Amino acid sequence: MPYSKPLWSGRFKEPLSEIALKFSSSIDFDKKLYQEDIAGSIAHVEMLAATKIISSEEGRRIRTALKEIAKEIDAGHLDLSWEKEDIHLAIEQRLIQKIGSIGGKLHAGRSRNDQIALDERLYLRTAIHELQKLITQLQRVLLYHAEKYFRVIIPGYTHMQRAQPIYLSHHFLAYISMLDRDFERLSDCRKRANKLPLGAAALAGTSLPIDRNMVARKLGFDGIVENSMDAVSDRDYLIEFISVCSTIMIHLSRFAEELVLWSSQEFSFATIDDAYSTGSSIMPQKKNPDMAELVRGKTGRVFGSLTAILTIMKALPLAYNRDMQEDKIPFFDAVTTTRECLFMFSHILVHTHFNKNRFEDELKHDFLTATDVAEYLVQKGVPFREAHSATGKIVAYAVEHKKSLDQLTLKEFKHYSKNFSDDVINVLDPHKSVEHKKSAGSTSPNEVKKQIVHWTRALKNRKLSAQ
Ligand code: ARG
Repeated sequence: MPYSKPLWSGRFKEPLSEIALKFSSSIDFDKKLYQEDIAGSIAHVEMLAATKIISSEEGRRIRTALKEIAKEIDAGHLDLSWEKEDIHLAIEQRLIQKIGSIGGKLHAGRSRNDQIALDERLYLRTAIHELQKLITQLQRVLLYHAEKYFRVIIPGYTHMQRAQPIYLSHHFLAYISMLDRDFERLSDCRKRANKLPLGAAALAGTSLPIDRNMVARKLGFDGIVENSMDAVSDRDYLIEFISVCSTIMIHLSRFAEELVLWSSQEFSFATIDDAYSTGSSIMPQKKNPDMAELVRGKTGRVFGSLTAILTIMKALPLAYNRDMQEDKIPFFDAVTTTRECLFMFSHILVHTHFNKNRFEDELKHDFLTATDVAEYLVQKGVPFREAHSATGKIVAYAVEHKKSLDQLTLKEFKHYSKNFSDDVINVLDPHKSVEHKKSAGSTSPNEVKKQIVHWTRALKNRKLSAQ
């Protein structure tokens, strides 16, 4: 059988030691790329035939054999153990085993350096498509909740201190906006990643008359990576992608943290269904929000992947270096973890109920409408700073006398500003506070409704990036 030694072993007198091969073998993790690798090889071989670098009969035979190999791998019939070094060599070796030395023509005009960069970019496109689908699904669940809980008032927080009344819907809609930027960031990352590196060969290009643009068109790329050194040594697309994954995870972890807090007895605001909660092995009464906690925890894992890829790439001289083989572990882990967390989060949210009346009573007795009192004075012509100071004094007075704002008399209000009159009562009710908001993007019912209408339309017409 031709080429029973490693395909690159021509200049070597001794075989690679077993421990060195084991240490450098990447097939355990890069076998994930077999479909991309074969799709890339098919496009490459079609181009080799079209440019007459190989005959069309040879091209046809290689293509057919590659398709068979894909099926063998699908069925788990191809040996992909560590001795094979990497997925590229395993497939090429199998090809040569199947069709003899014609198979050895496939690698003309390319190298594993541009081949791996191609496989990764193809894999990235699918990952982006899948993440965008999951983001959209989560946004739809959030929208469903925004409609379901429309007009439910909760305290909005700053510094984890009660600040102003807001609609729970407004809170959900904030997350829809955050996730929408993530969706766009993924599209944006794809724009720069969707260029073909293949044909850069090892680093310098090739003397063979290949047509890189033809391969780019066949594989759905928007052109080629122009500089062959850049093509084989660039991993910006992974850095950008994992950083987008990290931002998605930040967003999920913030909401996860809120669910953990809200489902505590102290808050008693959210109840996560039993099917998405776990018990304690010792404390019989416990019901824990483990799914939300795990999303929060897995965020650390994705940040770890970002740190890994940044560190692998830092200070690498041009062009390809074997260090870059290590890029796939953080890449794949970021894809899987982000995908699973987005998926799980939609399910947790569908199975979470919010206690609509939880804050009704408390809202009245808090000072959540103090800002409305200050703005009331502003509307009577008082400079905001004076209004703020007078209202602050009223709050201090109320705290001292153990009263809420709506329990104060007009006389007490007037003591701090002569501009108060009977109608101040209108701004003390948290429901009115929300209804009186006028600014664009505020928590007023009209503005919240507008956002709901906007997202209903946007999510209905949502177009995902192509795979
Ligand atoms: N397994 C290698 C990687 O993932 C493929 C490229 C190997 N190139 C080389 N010159 N050894 O980076």
